[in-house]
Amino acid sequence: MTAKRLGHPHLGLGVGLRTVHFDYILEKHPKVDWFEVISENFMDSRGRPRYVLEQIAERYPVVMHGVSLSIGSTDPLNFEYLRKLKALANDIKPLWISDHVCWTGVAGRNTHDLLPMPLTETSLKHVVERIRTVQDFLERPFVFENPSTYVGFTGSTMSEWEFITRMAQEANCGLLLDVNNVYVSSVNHDFDPQEFIRSVPHERVVQFHLAGHTNRQTHLIDTHDDHVVDPVWKLYRLAHKLTGGVSTLLEWDAKIPPFPVLHAEVLKAKRHIGEELADTNVATASREQETNAMSVSEDNLAVPHPLHHIAAEVV
Ligand SMILES: [Fe+2]
Repeated sequence: MTAKRLGHPHLGLGVGLRTVHFDYILEKHPKVDWFEVISENFMDSRGRPRYVLEQIAERYPVVMHGVSLSIGSTDPLNFEYLRKLKALANDIKPLWISDHVCWTGVAGRNTHDLLPMPLTETSLKHVVERIRTVQDFLERPFVFENPSTYVGFTGSTMSEWEFITRMAQEANCGLLLDVNNVYVSSVNHDFDPQEFIRSVPHERVVQFHLAGHTNRQTHLIDTHDDHVVDPVWKLYRLAHKLTGGVSTLLEWDAKIPPFPVLHAEVLKAKRHIGEELADTNVATASREQETNAMSVSEDNLAVPHPLHHIAAEVV
């Protein structure tokens, strides 16, 4: 039997560590429950970023979150990458390590994007085998996040929630449920986000992600450049209720605000958790509010993908 959250603790409300906040954090030591760090930003760095990370890891719980594992690719697993990941983990001792259910390239080419999986029996078997290999190499369970997607494969034979449920159970890994990604994909692919959240194995959910996104009217883009919208908070309340509450992390990767604004955003979760039982109809209201509340402006016509921002930080 699997221990709830794979035995991982509930860390509370954390934020993603970003370079622009290094000085503030080192100077003020804000009362943040925990930090999530982008693995690739520190794997090859021995300079100031690594010094800052070590200072922060001494004072706060830290988890590592990657964007380059490419667990779904048909390319061979990159063991050089895994060796660096393991070495960083041995140094900073994160509570857990995560990446995405996606592929980022093929035939040796890297798209620097989180590309959707074909949701088929063949790709499920493929990804389960690779997760097992990764976990054996790293000597720890891994945690996988549902990405935001904009296109799908016509050959898919199952829903995304069925795919990640079977993946987690068959590979014995954890799940990082990105609530904003569920919402973004639900609008882009016209599915019920509540069904997604109700269907995943809640005992395997180790962590939540929250973030803002950009409404392009015909589709949503996972830009991580704004406040969390009300429909996502409503889904978060549902996810909290169903899981019993897990470590929650706010991602903000473009148009990054001052640290107190970032921290205040994730602390809003306290209010939403308190209201969880009053939430009766997430999906219907969420679509209407999203459409009404946001409009296309000149500012969001050329929004960057979060990965582009992250990649720019990788040395
Ligand atoms: Fe995320």
